[in-house]
Amino acid sequence: MKNTRAPVLSLLLLTLIKAAVSNGSPASEPLDLNGNYGPDTPIVTISPPNQVYFVGADITMSCSAQSSPPAVYQWAFNRVYYNGSGSELSIKLLQLDNAGNYTCMAYNNITRRYAAFTQELSVVAPITTVTVSPSRAQPIENKTFSLSCEVSGTADSWRWLKDDQPLSTNERITLSGENSTVSFNPVLQSDNGTYQCVASDPISGMVSPGYTLVVNWSSLFNLNVHFQMDRTPQLSLSAPQTKSILWE
Ligand SMILES: *[C@@H]1O[C@H](CO)[C@@H](O)[C@H](O)[C@H]1NC(C)=O
Ligand SMILES: *[C@@H]1O[C@H](CO)[C@@H](O)[C@H](O)[C@H]1NC(C)=O
Ligand SMILES: *[C@@H]1O[C@H](CO)[C@@H](O)[C@H](O)[C@H]1NC(C)=O
Ligand SMILES: *[C@@H]1O[C@H](CO)[C@@H](O)[C@H](O)[C@H]1NC(C)=O
Ligand SMILES: *[C@@H]1O[C@H](CO)[C@@H](O)[C@H](O)[C@H]1NC(C)=O
Ligand SMILES: *[C@@H]1O[C@H](CO)[C@@H](O)[C@H](O)[C@H]1NC(C)=O
Ligand SMILES: *[C@@H]1O[C@H](CO)[C@@H](O)[C@H](O)[C@H]1NC(C)=O
Repeated sequence: MKNTRAPVLSLLLLTLIKAAVSNGSPASEPLDLNGNYGPDTPIVTISPPNQVYFVGADITMSCSAQSSPPAVYQWAFNRVYYNGSGSELSIKLLQLDNAGNYTCMAYNNITRRYAAFTQELSVVAPITTVTVSPSRAQPIENKTFSLSCEVSGTADSWRWLKDDQPLSTNERITLSGENSTVSFNPVLQSDNGTYQCVASDPISGMVSPGYTLVVNWSSLFNLNVHFQMDRTPQLSLSAPQTKSILWE
């Protein structure tokens, strides 16, 4: 009885699979004479379903592939196989080093076919502090100067504000390092102002405290004269931007 019905069932399944193929699903291998088929390309779902995951989250990855008899599943992380098998892989308290490529392999032990699908997992640390750090203690007029944005956490975009307005760039003021650094080549008095960096992760952004840029131009040199009662007057000159000093 069972044997006589098998071809009918096979025909039905074949029709279903053909319909699935014409809908753009991955191509299925043909049924064998006993109605065994698959596995098709596995589908991997992660719950909860997010684009990226924060450190500390708990997730479960599930894998399923059309297959008869049901497929046996195995997982790999960055191409290293996990011991054991099962269609679900749970990770508690995600860490940054859990980010990477998870491959689910489905195996049908009758058709002896494999099918695999790789899902990339992104893990980010929330941004907790953002600071602006200058390339040197003081910006000196007509010299190069730069500000870089330092972030603890995972930032994926940066932008800059000058006096609460978006910073305008030009040939002299340029951004680099995915916009995390602003360079002044050279820095001019017109660059005076309060600079802030806005660092963002995929969920939100954080603004740094202001860095007040004051171009040092006034002290091209300092002349100090020391008079003491019974000594020769002492004269000292410091000129940080001058290579040589001529006394007359
Ligand atoms: C084939 O896999 C099925 C589960 O899908 C299992 O029940 C069965 O024992 C396996 N057969 C062999 C020979 O491994
Ligand atoms: C997998 O099994 C091998 C052999 O039993 C063992 O040496 C290895 O540490 C295991 N790997 C993991 C990730 O459990
Ligand atoms: C994951 O795979 C993608 C695409 O092949 C690749 O660009 C990326 O570097 C891989 N990530 C890891 C951690 O291997
Ligand atoms: C850098 O900022 C500019 C606008 O100032 C923007 O057009 C560009 O896409 C940004 N680059 C990156 C890598 O975020
Ligand atoms: C920049 O700051 C210095 C020091 O306070 C000041 O002397 C100078 O006039 C300022 N320049 C501009 C354009 O605001
Ligand atoms: C400018 O720089 C010189 C040398 O670094 C320093 O002695 C002076 O105090 C600075 N001037 C101002 C206004 O900060
Ligand atoms: C910077 O360059 C301008 C134009 O060349 C000049 O007028 C100014 O004195 C220079 N300032 C310093 C501190 O060297």
